Parts: sequence; C-alpha cells; structure tokens
Amino acid sequence: MHERAAPALTSGQGAAGAELSIVVPTFKEKDNVGELVKRLEVTLQGVAWEVIFVDDDSPDGTADTVRALAATNPRVRCVQRIDRRGLSSACVEGMLSSSAPYVAVMDADLQHDEGILPAMLASLKQEDLDIVVGSRYVDGGGLGQWDESRAAISRFATRLSHMVVPPELKDPMSGFFMLRREVLHQCVRRLSALGFKILVDFFASSEQPLRFKELPYTFRNRIAGESKLDNQVAWDYGMLLLDKMIGHIVPARFVAFALIGGFGVLVHMAVLTALYKGGWLSFASGQASATTVAMVFNFAFNNIITYRDQQLKGLAWLRGLISFMLVCSVGAIANVGVANYLFDRDGGWVASALAGIVLGAVWNYAVTSVYTWGKGKKT
Ligand code: GDD
Ligand code: MN
Repeated sequence: MHERAAPALTSGQGAAGAELSIVVPTFKEKDNVGELVKRLEVTLQGVAWEVIFVDDDSPDGTADTVRALAATNPRVRCVQRIDRRGLSSACVEGMLSSSAPYVAVMDADLQHDEGILPAMLASLKQEDLDIVVGSRYVDGGGLGQWDESRAAISRFATRLSHMVVPPELKDPMSGFFMLRREVLHQCVRRLSALGFKILVDFFASSEQPLRFKELPYTFRNRIAGESKLDNQVAWDYGMLLLDKMIGHIVPARFVAFALIGGFGVLVHMAVLTALYKGGWLSFASGQASATTVAMVFNFAFNNIITYRDQQLKGLAWLRGLISFMLVCSVGAIANVGVANYLFDRDGGWVASALAGIVLGAVWNYAVTSVYTWGKGKKT
C-alpha cells in the first residue's frame, strides 16, 4: 500500500501518477464546479488525485469555467464533447481518459457527499472488492429532503433494476461509486452507455459478478443549477434495461426505431384518411402526401428519442431529413419487392407483407444509423 503525499505539481502539468481519478459528468453546472474542486481539496488531502470533468458543451460555459480552474490547478482536467449528450457515455469517456488505478464517478452538483471518498478508496485498497457504491439505502444513508413521489419513483426504478442487477445491491440507481481500473476494462465493451444509470450498466455488463460494498451517505439538496431529470431519463432507463435483457439479440435502439415506425404508420393512416376520405386528394396523391408526412414524423422522433445522444440540429437536421427520406425510399422499394416475390411464391399475403416490413425496417435502421446519424463519427 503506497501512501504517497500529493506530488508537487506545477501549473499546466497533468496530475502525474494520480492514484485516484474522479470523473464528473457536467451539463450546465458552472456555479458548482469550483466549489466541488474546493471540497475535494479538503477531503482528499494525502491522496494523489485528479478530477476530470466531462462536459457536453453546456451553453452556460461550464467547460470554460473548468479550464479556468485547470489553468491554476493541475489536478483539474476538462473533456468537452461536441454535439453529444448523455450522462453515462460522458462517464465512460472520462474514465477511459484516465490512467489511475482507482476511478470514481460523482455528480457535479454537490448532492453526493464527497466526504466518503477516502473511505471508498480505503475499502477498495484493503478489501477484496471490485467496486464501492455510495448508497442512500443502507443503514446510515438517506434521501435527504426528497418528496414522497420522487422517493417512490426511485424505489420503483430500483425494483425494476433487479431484473438485471443482484438484488443484494441496495442502491443501483446511485451515480456515486469507485472502482478498480481493471473492472472498467473488463466491462467497457459490453456497456450500453445509454442514459443516466451507469452503475446499473456496470453491474449488468460484467461477466463475473462484481464484488461490491455499499457505504452510506445522505443525498444533499441541489443549491445551484437544476436537475436534468426529465421524461427522457425514464425512457432511456427503459432502453437500458431492454438492452441488457435482449440487446445481445436485437439492439435496443432498433426497438425504439421500430416502435416509432409503428406510430408512423398510424400517422400515415390519419393523414391519408383526412386527405383521401376527406375528398381533398386522389388516393395516389393522398398516399404520397401521407408517406412524406410519416417520414418527416419518423425522422423527427427518432432524432429526439432514438438518437437523442447524437441529435441533429439546424442545417444538419435538414441534411439528416433528406438522407433519411432517401434511405427509407430505398427501404420501401425493397419492402415491396420482397413482399411481392414471396407472395408470388404462395407465401400467403400476411406473411409476405410482414417479411417485407421487417426487411424494410432493418434496412432503414441499419443504413440511417450510419448515414443519417453517423453513429460513432462525432467527437
Ligand atoms: N456530460 C453530461 N451530459 N452530464 C450530464 C448530462 C449529460 O447529458 N445530464 C446530466 N449530467 C450531469 C449533471 O450536470 C450532474 O453533474 C450529474 O450528471 C447528475 O445530473 P442531475 O440532473 O443532477 O441528476 P439527479 O440529481 O436527478 O440524479 C442524480 O441522482 C440519481 C440518484 O437518484 C444522479 O446522481 C444520478 O446519477 C443518480 O442516479
Ligand atoms: Mn443532481
């Protein structure tokens, strides 16, 4: 066990030989980051630590604030991601940018009690553990001033998580934990990195069960900035659970894409009914209009929901729409072609139609994921 004093660091130099990296995802937290660094300085005396803020290009200039701190404090680093959103993926990228043997994840908004970091580190170093979790649901921990409805939602989400994580883990929803670097590398290629719940992801993605321990803390109130918890978080959580349960068979993104496509059919029928049955257009023109509206609907919703983390905006939105419509037109031709081919060989009309639909959907999904949203191409 090497108890090293914090190395003397000169400005602009990385925290050479850091033993603990603290990864902090940020979105609009400019008024919290300075205070967090101050508190870490106090609580982590005698530890060679660094803090890596991973900011998704916050409009309030959080990244600039972090860089200003880094200019005088070499323990501070900033990873700024452009055109990306997502707490989990931010954590993963921050963790991968560090080389310390111990890596922690915590929020920027001072709701997690940094005071337990030294105990987390000591447990990981001294005990047979892979990961230590800051927990609100073990003796001595608590939710602080949560109202009953948020507490109930948290309990429900926790119960759901037990489909993919061990039930002995009391606070899988926690975004506050520390692990050994090897655990990261062992899991990283299987992580879904979708949405908010990175700890659930780790537990569900590890090949061997993780040896863990929970240390209590009480969740604090947020003072500056605001929570990013919204309906999208619930959807992302559903997608994460789905991905962990069936992701090895079908990607969860495909399920979202197919669901939106299903709604697109309803939109199509509604438009067609209004235009054709309403006596405004012929069937062919009505069908063409309904197809166009449905494609715009599908593109817009996939952009907001399925690809929220890589959302296209402004001119890129328009370019995306055009490529989406082109790809889906080819998908429609393939769909009709295959359905006709099967139908001509006595495939039965329902089975032939379904086969055409599945083929079209898979084509649309696979090709738009590369050409429209350009998965993985962004920084
Ligand atoms: N980079 C990045 N990208 N950071 C984000 C994003 C994003 O899209 N969304 C949120 N964050 C950052 C916030 O700036 C904050 O530092 C942290 O992630 C948590 O976000 P909050 O909006 O404060 O979340 P919360 O307080 O509702 O949820 C917290 O409590 C949960 C326990 O119920 C988080 O700690 C969760 O991780 C935790 O599970
Ligand atoms: Mn918070």
